Amino acid sequence: MRRAAIGAALLLVVSATSAHASVEAGETLFKARGCGGCHKVNGQGGAIGPDLSNEAAKGHDREWHIKHFLDPSGVTPGSMMPRMVKTREEAGDLADYVMSLGATETAPAPEAPAPAPEEKTEAAPAREAAPAGEAAPAGEAAPAAPPAPPKAVVEAAPPPPAAAPAPAPVSEPSAERGQALFRKKGCTGCHSIRGQGGSIGPDLTFEGEVAGHDADWQRRHLADPRAVTPGSTMPPFRLSEAETADLIAFLTGLKHRPEDRALSAEAKERFTALGERLEALKARVARAHAKGRNVDDLNVELSAARTRVTTVDEMIRTGNVVGAEDEIKAAEGIAQKLTEQLQAFDAQLRDRVSMAGIVVAGLLFGSFVITRKVRLLVREWDAAEGEREARRARGRKGPAPSEAKQTPPPEVPEATKETSEAPPEPPEEDA
Ligand code: HEC
Ligand code: HEC
Repeated sequence: MRRAAIGAALLLVVSATSAHASVEAGETLFKARGCGGCHKVNGQGGAIGPDLSNEAAKGHDREWHIKHFLDPSGVTPGSMMPRMVKTREEAGDLADYVMSLGATETAPAPEAPAPAPEEKTEAAPAREAAPAGEAAPAGEAAPAAPPAPPKAVVEAAPPPPAAAPAPAPVSEPSAERGQALFRKKGCTGCHSIRGQGGSIGPDLTFEGEVAGHDADWQRRHLADPRAVTPGSTMPPFRLSEAETADLIAFLTGLKHRPEDRALSAEAKERFTALGERLEALKARVARAHAKGRNVDDLNVELSAARTRVTTVDEMIRTGNVVGAEDEIKAAEGIAQKLTEQLQAFDAQLRDRVSMAGIVVAGLLFGSFVITRKVRLLVREWDAAEGEREARRARGRKGPAPSEAKQTPPPEVPEATKETSEAPPEPPEEDA
């Protein structure tokens, strides 16, 4: 009885630990197999498949997951998720892992458990939005209909290579259809072309120029990546013969274009202007330094911009300017930021200078007021003195009618002088 209880307890502990261990094993597998190329977990990953951050809440049981991992399209008709597990055990570990997502209190901020396809496409950053976001079913109940890539995506993707075969019968391989398949099958989840797509697999921008990767290599690789590249984490896709041919036409046509070799006239102009602008900024930074600003931060920015310029110079020199315009744009952004920071500093300086001006003006005005006041006082005193003198004179000679009325004029104001001299005259006329 007791032994049985202990046994049961042990079993519980063991199974709990092993469940934990398999969650960890599942997480490791998830990363190693590149599931993140198509699925987001806590904000990280692609948008071709559903966001798995809250997978625990979806209600799929372990058995459903295992079956789904072993045969995605068997469980979800039309699913373009490839079979990426080898054994039932791996599928079990992955099931434990995805079922743990969102189950704990460390779950991510409440997120719509099953975002509508439109929302997903909009919310995903541009490079992740590129793959067909609509491929994800809105909920577990909805089987994934073979996805039609959103229109915006079609436009954002690179145009088919010039090497595409000329108008051909439908049965001929078509790079254009291959390009559509590339998105539809979720290749973009793991591969980038001209800056669009994931980074789990190699960048395929110039796949058509990779030595040895001819049509035959592509065919063998697509059919079974691991047979060609041992240890490859690229899943084998179930492709029809026509799909394979279209993908091969697309992949082998991914080559440099003329505009990849030299900057356009417009870009060249911007690049020259950028060089001049950075020189000017360097001088302005030096001036700001001379005026007492700590310019360490500005110098860091400046050298980041210069590094980008050097990169573009190197690209031009080697005749491969793919991405050069992005570099130029980034450096222009830095230059703009620097300009604004320097302007802010200049404005601060100006404020300080005008503050000093106001103080000086205030002092000058104050002293002017004081001098005036002193002068007025002196004048008043003079006037009083004049009166006293006149009184003293009257005391000696007797009052003189004209003198008695006369106020001794202040010296300065001419007008006052004249009017004050006027009064003596009328009495004389009277006499
Ligand atoms: C090429 C893109 C792609 C890759 C790679 C991929 N998936 Fe999927 N996954 C999908 C798509 C599309 C769906 C929706 C259709 C379906 O249910 O099969 C899906 C569905 C799922 C679901 C069901 C989600 C739900 O609740 O409806 C789980 C769980 C899942 N994937 C886990 C994984 C794991 C684990 C890996 C790595 C071993 C993986 N996926 C690799 C595209 C992908
Ligand atoms: C889950 C991630 C993933 C998906 C989805 C995926 N790949 Fe890959 N791919 C890889 C990895 C990793 C490699 C590197 C190992 C190898 O060569 O197999 C690779 C390699 C390649 C290469 C060789 C690149 C080179 O120059 O070495 C090509 C071509 C390629 N993939 C095409 C495709 C196509 C086409 C699809 C869609 C049908 C696709 N991939 C889907 C991960 C993926």
